[in-house]
Amino acid sequence: MSSAGNNRPIPDELVEEIKAKNDIVAVVEQYVRLDKRSGSNYFGLCPFHNEDTPSFSVAPNKQIFYCFGCHKGGNVIQFVRELEKCTWPQALKILADRASIKLPESDDEAYREKLEFNSRISTLYLEAARYYYRQLTGPAGQNARAYLKNRAISDSTAKKFGLGFAPDEWDGLVKHFAQLNITDPVLLDKSGLCKRGNKGGYYDIFRNRLMFPIFDAMGKIVAFGGRNLDQALPKYMNSPETPIYTKGRHLYGLNIAKSSNEKRLILVEGYMDTIAMHQAGVDYAVAALGTAMTEAQANLLRKYTENVIVCFDADAAGQTAALKSLDILTSRGLKVLVLQMPDGKDPDEFIKKHGAERFRALVDQALPVIDFKIEVARRTSTHQDQFNILSFQDLACTILAQEDNAIVRELYAGKIGTMIHTSAESVMREIDRRRTVQPTNKTDTLHQQLSDRLNHTDLDAQTNSQTANDLAIREEIYFLSLLADQPSLLALLKDQPGIDDFSPGAMQQVAGRVFKLLSEQKAFDTSILMNCAEALMVNERMLSDLFATASLKLEGNFSGQEPANTATELLREMRLNHLRRQLREAQALAEDLSQPEKAALARQRLLDLNLHIKQLRQR
Ligand code: CTP
Ligand code: MN
Repeated sequence: MSSAGNNRPIPDELVEEIKAKNDIVAVVEQYVRLDKRSGSNYFGLCPFHNEDTPSFSVAPNKQIFYCFGCHKGGNVIQFVRELEKCTWPQALKILADRASIKLPESDDEAYREKLEFNSRISTLYLEAARYYYRQLTGPAGQNARAYLKNRAISDSTAKKFGLGFAPDEWDGLVKHFAQLNITDPVLLDKSGLCKRGNKGGYYDIFRNRLMFPIFDAMGKIVAFGGRNLDQALPKYMNSPETPIYTKGRHLYGLNIAKSSNEKRLILVEGYMDTIAMHQAGVDYAVAALGTAMTEAQANLLRKYTENVIVCFDADAAGQTAALKSLDILTSRGLKVLVLQMPDGKDPDEFIKKHGAERFRALVDQALPVIDFKIEVARRTSTHQDQFNILSFQDLACTILAQEDNAIVRELYAGKIGTMIHTSAESVMREIDRRRTVQPTNKTDTLHQQLSDRLNHTDLDAQTNSQTANDLAIREEIYFLSLLADQPSLLALLKDQPGIDDFSPGAMQQVAGRVFKLLSEQKAFDTSILMNCAEALMVNERMLSDLFATASLKLEGNFSGQEPANTATELLREMRLNHLRRQLREAQALAEDLSQPEKAALARQRLLDLNLHIKQLRQR
């Protein structure tokens, strides 16, 4: 078959590597001129049949080509085979050369040795894991077991993840290796698990650490992470790169998550987050392990699913990492949602504090990437409870300017308009201006901007309910001003507003007065609204002032706009705010351990509320 006289089958991993290093778009572009069109796909003139209009397409996210004219299609290797009219191994050879990958030759002694060495390292790692596991379950593991218990990791979970313990000894592992005749110094040196001392003997590198074996997707141990149980630094130590392990090419937990029934994967930061989530029934969690998301990891994810939820810690570092990952993931054609962890916790801490149910409810509320970015923009534009509209609109328009889909841009322009009390048209104009000024993707600078801001914003202060309240009140003020401006809108609303849709206190009072007037069919306009606000204060400001400002902003904003849509959208936001207020109350109750019955009821209520919010969001 093969021109190289190669009768040894080429290992699957090598084929995968060759494919991974030969992006189909780049390869096809060597032969065909491609134009980007329709969504994420490229089009060009088919090299396999004669045509005048392009019907040959390449889908980068699926790494395949397909011609709508002659119906030829396949992956990158098949493309080369068709085009070069060669055999499969020859096509593979062409692509391997293109990526500077060496293919095995039947008489390649060096390659045979390499394979053998790899298999010896694998054996060594497996034996190390066995040793660590026995230590954890044996007498030496008492403290480590207590530690796991304290972190609420059950025995069966520990077993599932092959957790182990490296005891506080100089050469326990080395001795174990010796018993198994694993003594080759080259192998021991490369393993990264032990080290040669001054006197020539070997000693263990991991001591007094909880050991996390890192498996590849097929379930083979390729590395270890070790967490301290005392104050020893660093907190986590990782075994080095070896011939079988390259950093950033694996995902922790994938060997288990790939068998989940869910058609998605959720990406977290750490070992413990992954483990805690699996234990909580979220069995599709994987971790990138400290590194920022790499392209290799994105490709790996893509092999198993199209849907990824990115879940990073609520701290600034976590959010910055999340922002960076998003573009790598979306560029691989993955559909990405972002899950924000509330109150500055990582998933593990959240589950420990609030339980598995609450966490699963949270997962269902993950935001689309754009919403997440806008949310970051909103949060970072708020300082000491002052919402800086200028700063926000600037960022938000930059974010939207990068969106390729015109419909999505327009949709969000409406949302942003509502948030900053201006028309969707003005927002669209601003977005278009940016798109002409910066035709190329300036994602990097945007991320820089957002990350910088994140690092300068006190996130804890931001998550407090005051900010949320302020935003809610602003929406209510705008809603009432709009209603006063055009009272006929009320009849157009499918859902009628009620007192409960307003924040407790001054806003409910003014709404009460307004609704009373309306129900009595009395006249209602902007100046009457001011009357209703008489003597009421919000955030130490006269409510009538706030209404006046809002009413003035309304002017001229609705030339071609559909005010009913804005009113509906605002009312929906207000309903959401109302639910969120209830959510916060229920949360407080649910955590009140002194009243277990009430807490249990509150937890049920939380689930209902979460469901409600989700439904409302999807409208
Ligand atoms: N990490 C690492 N080396 C470090 C610190 C962190 O490799 N010195 C990686 C680990 O994979 C870790 C992840 O980064 O799981 C996230 O780090 P961090 O948030 O600090 O730890 P947690 O996962 O929260 O660990 P724990 O809950 O055990 O404190
Ligand atoms: Mn943690």
